[in-house]
Amino acid sequence: MDSILVTGNGPLNGQIPIAGAKNACLTLMPATLLSEEPLTLTNAPRLSDIKTMTALLQSLGAEVSSLQDGQVIAMSSHDLTSQTADYEIVRKMRASNLVLGPLLARFGEAVVSLPGGCAIGARPMDLHVDGLEALGAEIELKDGYLHAKAPGGLKGAVHEMRFASVGATENIVMAATLAKGTTVLMNAAREPEIVDLVECLRKMGAQISGEGTSTIEIQGVDRLHGATHQVVTDRIELGTYMLAPAICGGEVELLGGRMSLVESFAAKLDAAGVSVAETTNGLKVARKNGRVTSVDVVTEPFPGFPTDLQAQMMALMCTAEGTAVLEERIFENRFMHAPELVRMGANIEVHGGTATVTGVERLKGAPVMATDLRASVSLILAGLAAEGETTVSRVYHLDRGYEHVVRKLEGVGAKIERIKGQ
Ligand code: UD1
Repeated sequence: MDSILVTGNGPLNGQIPIAGAKNACLTLMPATLLSEEPLTLTNAPRLSDIKTMTALLQSLGAEVSSLQDGQVIAMSSHDLTSQTADYEIVRKMRASNLVLGPLLARFGEAVVSLPGGCAIGARPMDLHVDGLEALGAEIELKDGYLHAKAPGGLKGAVHEMRFASVGATENIVMAATLAKGTTVLMNAAREPEIVDLVECLRKMGAQISGEGTSTIEIQGVDRLHGATHQVVTDRIELGTYMLAPAICGGEVELLGGRMSLVESFAAKLDAAGVSVAETTNGLKVARKNGRVTSVDVVTEPFPGFPTDLQAQMMALMCTAEGTAVLEERIFENRFMHAPELVRMGANIEVHGGTATVTGVERLKGAPVMATDLRASVSLILAGLAAEGETTVSRVYHLDRGYEHVVRKLEGVGAKIERIKGQ
């Protein structure tokens, strides 16, 4: 297994290009199942999660080709051969469940494995099931698989979700595009990735309004057609690299970044004493004077502070002046990076969903282990700011969500290298 060696060495300066959003791409790819005509995505990120979704779609009989070094994904679901998402693929990546809504809508049938346990929490599928049942689907759990049927086709309905789940919103919206009549989805998630999905579905001929608000209205159509769509910028990769100059000092421009994608996060950086400004090409982040100040954070659905940036923000708070309280409200077990940061000299106490971080002057390099995707990059950020060498093992987590991480950080002056495993 590969590892990453980081040596803390002072301020970072330069530019980092931000890729297309992993989480948008993982819902845009299953949208191909809604139509027999081709769907092409541009600005796709080059990540192992995208390869997993490619394998899943291919296992259903879809044609998927990766062009231009993986940045363009051309798909066709003309001749699908299966409506079953196998456990062997779904267990690798929860987002595999996003084939459920499209398969059910187009074929009136889908069999999708439950994702099973996940390192950061239980992550059930009840909200997906409730929404699809409201559209007339009959769903039962057999042998670890959700068996969904809609023999007479799906029918539009008014449905309010108990919680604004991102994945459930995506599955219900995709399913409703081909349902008979109108669906009104209330308490829908408002994430930019959902807005991006709706924009793509609209290019495919879907009739949808209200995306980006908590009520989405979908007028079902008989069929969807082909389209080409550019994947939105990855706001989590953007936020992660915004933290690099915040934690090391210096000034870095994040190419392709937009303030509207990271407003609540940028407000916290600003309160901590880090400057964030919009430029013609993206966002410029600078920290010039001394340590940052501690700020409290509560994770919430968009537009609140994203749970996917909590681990990275904790790394920054480890060296801030003062004490910060980080409250995790989206996932029940998402502080596994804390004991690893403590190994680097951080002062963190975790009680349930709350972590109290008292900043120290300087972290110290140590061998640490990545436990999940965002935790892995938080350890790299901490390593950039630490004295001496930090080796982050199990970097396959990192490969799920960050392309060319070594190249991007080296480009702004970081000392970082990938060590090949035996
Ligand atoms: C998506 C993102 C993930 C991000 C998360 C929250 C993708 C591929 N992944 O995950 O990176 O961290 O949004 O912003 O886009 N829940 C239920 N029942 C359900 C569904 C969810 O109880 O049927 C719970 C989950 O256990 C979790 C919370 O709701 O505690 C949020 O989950 P959800 O918004 O669905 O996240 P995902 O779509 O899985």
